[in-house]
Amino acid sequence: MFTPEALAARLQRLATFSAPGAGVTRLVYDDAWCEAHRWLREEAAALGLAATCDAIGNLWFHDLGLPPGAEVIAVGSHLDTVVQGGRYDGPYGTIAGLMLAAEMRASGVPVAAFVTCEEEGSRFPASLTGVRGLLGQLVPSQLAALRDASGTTWGEALAMARERGCASALPAEGMPLAPLFRARRQLELHIEQGPVLEDSGETLGIVHRIAGYRRVRARLRGEARHAGTTPMDRRHDAFAAAAEIVLAAEALAREAGPPAVATAGFAHVAPGLFNVVPGECTLGLEVRHTKVEALARLADDLAARAQAIAQRRGVSLSVETESGEPPTPLSEELAAEAVALAKAQGISHRVMASGAGHDTMAFAQAGVPALMLFVPSRGGISHAPEEHSAPRDLWTGVVFARELLGRWALAPA
Ligand code: GLV
Ligand code: MN
Ligand code: MN
Repeated sequence: MFTPEALAARLQRLATFSAPGAGVTRLVYDDAWCEAHRWLREEAAALGLAATCDAIGNLWFHDLGLPPGAEVIAVGSHLDTVVQGGRYDGPYGTIAGLMLAAEMRASGVPVAAFVTCEEEGSRFPASLTGVRGLLGQLVPSQLAALRDASGTTWGEALAMARERGCASALPAEGMPLAPLFRARRQLELHIEQGPVLEDSGETLGIVHRIAGYRRVRARLRGEARHAGTTPMDRRHDAFAAAAEIVLAAEALAREAGPPAVATAGFAHVAPGLFNVVPGECTLGLEVRHTKVEALARLADDLAARAQAIAQRRGVSLSVETESGEPPTPLSEELAAEAVALAKAQGISHRVMASGAGHDTMAFAQAGVPALMLFVPSRGGISHAPEEHSAPRDLWTGVVFARELLGRWALAPA
């Protein structure tokens, strides 16, 4: 059923697959994720689509007669969420993809929907792992030993999900996943997750570029001492040094100006007691920018400021790179086509960059002509339970995508 009501009802249902607590928490291979995976497969079957999972739990929804290796137009998003996230980051593109594949499974070039198992990196330190598997760039055995916060390995969690029917058999040790289909073009519908469209009153964002990021763990080691007896001028407080680094990161991004952003997302302090000057602190630091040189400068400047702070405070600092993605341009041609269509349809729109990372980065980096479409986010809020987009905007995005995909399906290769 291709109606606004069907879109809203499916989004509402998908949001129910969550761990307890505020918002939606659905981490790769956990109970809520496995239940949502099963429900999506049932929905696909009810729409007459095949649902095929790969060995790490990515899904494709496609025409029953489509052979492996076929060329498709890929449309979709991710199933996992951040901890206590919202109802739309991932689900919007996922449900839209399912509905579009059901509608357009047999168009010139068939539309097939993908659902990546993992994009956020919220359970294992492995953002964009799902899509990299989908594209055949990943060797599952290399992930097996990654651990989540409770010590469960990727391999153990995946084996449990496989027992529940959420993944197919693994390839031989050391072998990459084989991609099921070849994407001729790729589209991801997503909520904007920022305030640009709402502030401008526009309905549609046509994304031409995605910001890159660098993430590091900064480990500070000072001296754990008695908090009551150690004079202030004899302390080497790792947490106080970390606090100064957090503020330095914030100042750095403000000085650089938009679209530079810098965030300290977590701090782990040890031993973490009222009466001990903190001897150790680990910070999670991230910088993002849409331009390659500016991103490198931000990362270098932050490292230099952190080193200077640690040195002045007599605290040692080691910095370990956790992950990163380069700023990624999307297809100029597909963006221009979308702009022309939006103009022809009288839809208010803007060409814009994405500050958030997306599965689409991996498609574009692999050379697949790729595009994203954004719809407004209320208050610009995302990665939080308050995430919301108006049903009519969500529906406008899907209808616009259907029109665009119809053209892509008939376009020469
Ligand atoms: C994904 O949501 C990211 O930008 O971190
Ligand atoms: Mn997302
Ligand atoms: Mn996200």
